[in-house]
Amino acid sequence: MTPLTLQEFTALVSSFQDEAGAAIDGADSAESLEATRTKYLGRAHGWLKDISAKLAQLDKGDRAAAGRLFNDARLAVEAAMESRQGALAPARAGITLADPTMPARRAWKGAVHPVTAVIDEMIEIFRELGFTVALGPEAESSWYNFGSLNFPADHPAMDLHDTLYISDDLLLRTHTSPVQTRTLQGYAPPIRVLIPGNVHRRDPFDASHAPTFAQVEGLVVDEGITFADLKATLTHFANRFFGSTKTRFRPSYFPFTEPSAEMDVLCGVCKGSGCSVCKQSGWIEILGSGLVHPAVLDSAGVDSEKYTGWAFGMGPGRTALARHGIPDIRILYDSDVRFLQQFAR
Ligand code: DAH
Repeated sequence: MTPLTLQEFTALVSSFQDEAGAAIDGADSAESLEATRTKYLGRAHGWLKDISAKLAQLDKGDRAAAGRLFNDARLAVEAAMESRQGALAPARAGITLADPTMPARRAWKGAVHPVTAVIDEMIEIFRELGFTVALGPEAESSWYNFGSLNFPADHPAMDLHDTLYISDDLLLRTHTSPVQTRTLQGYAPPIRVLIPGNVHRRDPFDASHAPTFAQVEGLVVDEGITFADLKATLTHFANRFFGSTKTRFRPSYFPFTEPSAEMDVLCGVCKGSGCSVCKQSGWIEILGSGLVHPAVLDSAGVDSEKYTGWAFGMGPGRTALARHGIPDIRILYDSDVRFLQQFAR
């Protein structure tokens, strides 16, 4: 093996570094830079490879110093290569950046879905009144969904026609009311909970129905709760949610409440004079409610002689439609960015 002096090796490394540096600066495209990389740094036949092979020709005592020289030169050339690559990249894509700190031309903004916005606002308003949030399973037993809620055994809602069954006893909950029973079983009064969640019905998908939709349930149970609590709380909610409005309660029927009532609010679109959103009535029905039926308390193991309560259930999807004057529920399910963008704040 021909011996090599440290001086000769140093000269070799510095001419490598000079030539490689000039070639990198001269590369005017990503392709020519890549060719330069192969020529100087290529693992198989690059110049750097040749130099590293020469290390063995050096005197043993010189090798450590030569190795450092070699490494420094390699790092310097690699760094120059990288920075040139960065400089060439935008030009390659046909973009010239006048000012790289300029904001992107289109700033996409995320938005909360209008139904989620209704649920979030409800939770906030009721939280101020001391309510907490409770959740329950969407796959539910028919006892929780119907039996515990005082549905008679032959109630039409239990029909295959209206309910999606998973097996004989397991179904997709048709409302959030079964979480009333679960909450009453799990916690001792006083209870004040809000229960948001998805529910499922064997409904067609049309302008006013969807087979899966959101509900928000409310439940209050304590000693001495009366219909006045229900009315005051729900009226307060309506005024907070819709901005000072008018409400009215109409008698209704649900198996799990007695007495039962539906609450209407003044139509926000026409302010009561009648329009297509309120079907000319001037009012929008927003929820069902009532005093918890004693049989519901009893089936959950709560003493109905000692405790009373009230509950409500509403559909935030319908409320979102009414709030924004939207005529077709299906748009809430479309994930159409042009629609959702309108709610970005
Ligand atoms: N569960 C009823 C439904 O899905 C809504 C409802 C009405 C819930 C009255 C309640 C209530 O808690 O008191 O139609």
